[in-house]
Amino acid sequence: MDRLVYHKNNPFLASIRERYVLSKPGSQKKTQHLVLDISGSGITYEVGDSFGVFPTHDPALVEKTLQAMQAKRDDVISLPQSGEKISLYRFLAEKANITTVSPKLLEEVAKRQTNPQKKERLTSLLQEEERASMKAYLSQHEVWDLLVSHSEVYFSPQELVDLLMPLLPRFYSISASQKYVGDEVHITVAPVDYETNGHQRRGVCTHFLCELAPLHTPIVPVFIQPSHGFHLPDDHHSSLLMIGPGTGVAPFRAFLQERFYHLRSEGKHWLFFGEWNSSYDFFYERDWEEFSRCGYLQVDCAFSRDQHEKIYVQDRIWERGEEFFSWLENGSYLYVCGDAQRMAKDVDAMLLKVIQTYGNRDLQASREYVKQLRQQKRYRRDVY
Ligand SMILES: Cc1cc2nc3c(=O)[nH]c(=O)nc-3n(C[C@H](O)[C@H](O)[C@H](O)COP(=O)(O)OP(=O)(O)OC[C@H]3O[C@@H](n4cnc5c(N)ncnc54)[C@H](O)[C@@H]3O)c2cc1C
Ligand SMILES: NC(=O)c1ccc[n+]([C@@H]2O[C@H](COP(=O)([O-])OP(=O)(O)OC[C@H]3O[C@@H](n4cnc5c(N)ncnc54)[C@H](OP(=O)(O)O)[C@@H]3O)[C@@H](O)[C@H]2O)c1
Repeated sequence: MDRLVYHKNNPFLASIRERYVLSKPGSQKKTQHLVLDISGSGITYEVGDSFGVFPTHDPALVEKTLQAMQAKRDDVISLPQSGEKISLYRFLAEKANITTVSPKLLEEVAKRQTNPQKKERLTSLLQEEERASMKAYLSQHEVWDLLVSHSEVYFSPQELVDLLMPLLPRFYSISASQKYVGDEVHITVAPVDYETNGHQRRGVCTHFLCELAPLHTPIVPVFIQPSHGFHLPDDHHSSLLMIGPGTGVAPFRAFLQERFYHLRSEGKHWLFFGEWNSSYDFFYERDWEEFSRCGYLQVDCAFSRDQHEKIYVQDRIWERGEEFFSWLENGSYLYVCGDAQRMAKDVDAMLLKVIQTYGNRDLQASREYVKQLRQQKRYRRDVY
């Protein structure tokens, strides 16, 4: 019998087996560990892969959008791509991006607006030279509050459906080895929570995974997103430098499970972890202790909010720069995972500084050193 293959266009419906906050009570961080059940799916994955998740919107947000559209949940619409007919409610809940206003929708609202001041405001935002203002305006609005602010404009349900962007999947680094956990996928999720335009907003997928989705119910559409190069080296005994602040630590839990419990690695392992407070936010502390008993692992932590001045993972690398450089010289593989906007850039800059200082090279030669690390596939990043 052919085995069913699940992928992005045919996701498997997983259920959440377990879900808990990783920080101790009293923490301001709400990062959660989730265990999803994929039994019966035949899904296989490798450490370093990510898990793709299609979220469902919060019913309260869908209701607000329906009200703003002056539409009914049972209105039937045709899907823009396939033409398949489904209820408007299901379309808004599962298929549409209702938290981001598309420029196409903004243009159409401007075109149909009959109030001269409002029309003028939107029309000016749509000018090429107002790109930054338009971006700021779009980031402050969801579909429902754009429609409420422009209640003079009416769209039929199908017209609006055709102007919305699709709801895209989100990705989460897998934080366990399948060889150790079998028919489970573990992920580490930092809830997104912020305010725009005076309204509280939640990240669509993190809210779905951490709060909305009931446990033990097969309703989470998932698929595996294979990693492009962020996997373990072929040599199971090579040494690893792993930089993973915040949720960036997730794949390293998987790496170490695989290396110590399955591959019986005799390599050296050095993890740099960073979070807010040492008393609360040392994610997976027990796991690191357990790994240390099974093999050679050292952990350096940077708790940014334990003291007045910020201390980050790259500061810890700098403090132990000489040893860090000697690991690189001895053939270590360097992995960085987590925030792309600031952390990964700052760690990269620190890497250059360490090579300059302890490798006794000028900036140009240090850049060449990093280039060679990349070419040898010894500098691997998974940043987002
Ligand atoms: C390869 C990869 C691996 C990843 N691994 C992980 C992981 O292991 N764990 C993890 O938690 N995440 C991970 N992510 C990120 C994850 O995929 C989602 O992007 C994240 O969870 C947010 O999704 P969401 O649907 O909850 O938020 P969304 O609804 O998509 O909202 C996020 C958006 O909200 C806006 N926003 C957020 N904060 C603010 C603010 N303060 N002010 C204004 N606007 C704001 C921004 O536009 C932001 O893009 C990974 C991403 C990739 C690409
Ligand atoms: N907007 C939201 O509500 C929200 C929620 C969750 C995650 N996110 C985003 O998701 C990504 C991952 O978040 P996360 O919860 O895993 O943790 P994170 O925000 O990356 O924070 C983890 C640790 O890294 C520190 N850090 C901040 N800037 C750094 C830098 N330049 N170099 C090194 N370390 C730095 C943080 O310190 P400090 O924070 O003390 O500076 C914290 O101690 C980030 O891009 C984050 O912005 C956003």
